[in-house]
Amino acid sequence: MNIAIVGTGYVGLVSGTCFAEMGVDVTCVDTDFKKIDQLCKGIIPIYEPGLEDMVQRNMKADRLHFTTSLTDILDTVQVVFSAVGTPPDADGSADLTYVLEVARTIGQNMQQYVLLVTKSTVPVGTATLVRNAIQAELDKRGVTIDFDVASNPEFLKEGDAIKDFMSPDRVVVGVESEKAMDLITRLYRPFLLNNFRVIFMDILSAEMTKYAANAMLATRISFMNDMANLCELVGADVNMVRKGIGSDQRIGGKFLYAGCGYGGSCFPKDVKALIHTAEQNGYELRVLKAVEEVNAYQKQVLFKKLLKHLDGDLSNKTICIWGLSFKPNTDDIREAPALVLIEKLLEAGCQVRAFDPVSIPDTREYFKTQRSSLDTSRMYFAHDIYDAVLDADALLLVTEWKEFRMPSWGVVKKTMKGSLIIDGRNIYDKKEMKEMGFVYEAIG
Ligand SMILES: NC(=O)c1ccc[n+]([C@@H]2O[C@H](COP(=O)([O-])OP(=O)(O)OC[C@H]3O[C@@H](n4cnc5c(N)ncnc54)[C@H](O)[C@@H]3O)[C@@H](O)[C@H]2O)c1
Repeated sequence: MNIAIVGTGYVGLVSGTCFAEMGVDVTCVDTDFKKIDQLCKGIIPIYEPGLEDMVQRNMKADRLHFTTSLTDILDTVQVVFSAVGTPPDADGSADLTYVLEVARTIGQNMQQYVLLVTKSTVPVGTATLVRNAIQAELDKRGVTIDFDVASNPEFLKEGDAIKDFMSPDRVVVGVESEKAMDLITRLYRPFLLNNFRVIFMDILSAEMTKYAANAMLATRISFMNDMANLCELVGADVNMVRKGIGSDQRIGGKFLYAGCGYGGSCFPKDVKALIHTAEQNGYELRVLKAVEEVNAYQKQVLFKKLLKHLDGDLSNKTICIWGLSFKPNTDDIREAPALVLIEKLLEAGCQVRAFDPVSIPDTREYFKTQRSSLDTSRMYFAHDIYDAVLDADALLLVTEWKEFRMPSWGVVKKTMKGSLIIDGRNIYDKKEMKEMGFVYEAIG
């Protein structure tokens, strides 16, 4: 089968490459000329483990192609997946500009049946807007051509994206016709040969499922962060509490880790968008508002702990940050807790020494373009973890990349000026750290 994937970001590029890996002929489309130019040379614009090899292999096998023009290839494909961005608008709602642009392009140019599948995370009811946008263009042209729309929200996780796409827990699909259902079934069957877990439903429910899933995950994180803060006050250990409750099968052990707040391109914007959808429908999602409030507070917690240990005066202190991306194994820094922390440190007059295995270029660009009023001359991007701790009064672990898990603590101790370690992801052993002479504090 020939398909197109529009939008070659984290979702589009991974989905397109994985479909190609299964033998589908895939053309990935993006309006970003630079991105497509790089991809045509086999250079991938994002960091996602295993992706580059897979892209190059499928390009070589002539199953994966790249273009900036959906119009040029529209007649060669039966199915178009739309995986363009849906960034938050000023009021928190999802911006559907790109989603509707794709629909209009299809309506303006299609000559034969197309199934347009929305993979982007979009508010409930978007499929109707997409269908209407295509139909309006067909009406303008005065032609009648059969088409379908469907919703296939994506659940992959950055950092594990290939594994998640190749062996999904489930695939959720909202459809309105037998023909759409058959096409989707054919496309996904190879991924789920042993246990076909495509859950077909109506489109509104499929759109809602994606938001409900992210809202639930964000809620678990904020719940545990709230518990962690209370554990600190009453002298309990949140790690033991996590084990204690996670072993209850009704609760389960995943996504129960306390930390320094959730970030990324999905949870913050999707929680906001769902709150907005509820408001538009005259309903208040009280739990999710609290989830957001707890998360905003949690992103300040490392800074507060630092202030407490350094007697409220951070001016001219040198602070080391390990980890900039919002989680390990990705270069994505969107809404990352490290950005909030660095901003506060710079405002407080600190020297910041930061290291991350892959996210330094994007972080440098972020502060240059989006935080240009800050004095970034006091921010230094280190070559490695030991360079980052040089003369540091404190080390703050923000993202739990593997290479931060077992550093040579002897070298760290000798290289730092102070001995304070604040562990924002609870990855170090409290007893061991104290035995090595560090002042150690974690979350909860
Ligand atoms: N990143 C994730 O982990 C993840 C997971 C599940 C769902 N999602 C959802 O998937 C969608 C895409 O997310 P992403 O992180 O891949 O976004 P991204 O910002 O990395 O990529 C979006 C791409 O779409 C391109 N684009 C925009 N308008 C276009 C157009 N008219 N034609 C062609 N290309 C166009 C952009 O140039 C960009 O390359 C969002 O709705 C997001 O919420 C993301």
